[in-house]
Amino acid sequence: MKRILVIGYSQSGQLYEILENFLKPFEGVEIEQVKIEPKEAFPFPWTSDVFFDTMPESVLEEPVDLAPYTLKSTSYDLIIVGYQPWYLSPSIPTTSLLKDPKFLSILKNTPVVTVIGARNMWLNAQESVVGYIEGAGGKVVGNVPLVDRHQNLVSVLSILHWMLTGKKERKWGVLATPGVSDKDIKGVEIFGKKVFKGLQKGTYKGLQEEILAEQTIDIHPSILLVETRGKILFLAWAKLIKKKGAGSKKRSFWVSMYKYYLLVALFIVSPIVLTIYTLLIRPFTGKSIQKKTEHFLYLGIDRT
Ligand SMILES: Cc1cc2nc3c(=O)[nH]c(=O)nc-3n(C[C@H](O)[C@H](O)[C@H](O)COP(=O)(O)O)c2cc1C
Repeated sequence: MKRILVIGYSQSGQLYEILENFLKPFEGVEIEQVKIEPKEAFPFPWTSDVFFDTMPESVLEEPVDLAPYTLKSTSYDLIIVGYQPWYLSPSIPTTSLLKDPKFLSILKNTPVVTVIGARNMWLNAQESVVGYIEGAGGKVVGNVPLVDRHQNLVSVLSILHWMLTGKKERKWGVLATPGVSDKDIKGVEIFGKKVFKGLQKGTYKGLQEEILAEQTIDIHPSILLVETRGKILFLAWAKLIKKKGAGSKKRSFWVSMYKYYLLVALFIVSPIVLTIYTLLIRPFTGKSIQKKTEHFLYLGIDRT
């Protein structure tokens, strides 16, 4: 009997719900599911201070200790890694897993499918995740990123409400419901079916093409622009906070500077930049957008 490992972390349970639906088609397979936890839990709901203070270590991909977890086998036919991005980087528990020698040791020559439950910015995080998997000799054969489909700034507000209250509900009864929609969470089963077919056949050739053929996964050009610029800026802030923020008072000063910068960048600068980009630049850069989009949709995956 084929044996698969499903491993990952979720704070609110959203990612576990996605994985549960994803796994529905996997019949007659031994499924081992491991839910990892940091030794010291990140608070949920978050306090505003901790939420923003988590940026530097997320972006610099610094691992924390994980609570002990057990892997029953030393090799699997397929590994499914479920994760979420934090600050355009893998979440800290995910980074910690991807740097854990115990987990890395089972990746060698093993196909890996990544399943993401994000707000809408997972590109840089996936670049890192693929790098860790390949570095350990694993092979990414598919990626299923699920996102909040609402307009970018609407989803920022609604996700902040969710993260800071713990309630996945419409703020004031008017904003959009935060996170990945119920429809997409349930609909992820269709991708599970495709991966299961690959597992049965023993080849994942053409899998990502099939996943994308459903036409529910795409990257909006404005997200492409924000992500490629955003990571550079986050890295600069992360290094600045680490350098200048020795001592808790100094750190909280620099983290609040970053917080205000982020709010201004998101709500004032980026709408202006994106309007100019959409009207004046995007019409002339179709080919390069297409190339970059494909690069991210197929990160680490062999094209047929
Ligand atoms: C500290 C923090 C930073 C986040 N940064 C991002 C991000 O950069 N891009 C993104 O798409 N989602 C981001 N999110 C949303 C998460 O990726 C995820 O969708 C949400 O936290 C729910 O995940 P869960 O299954 O762990 O509850 C962030 C969430 C948190 C808590």
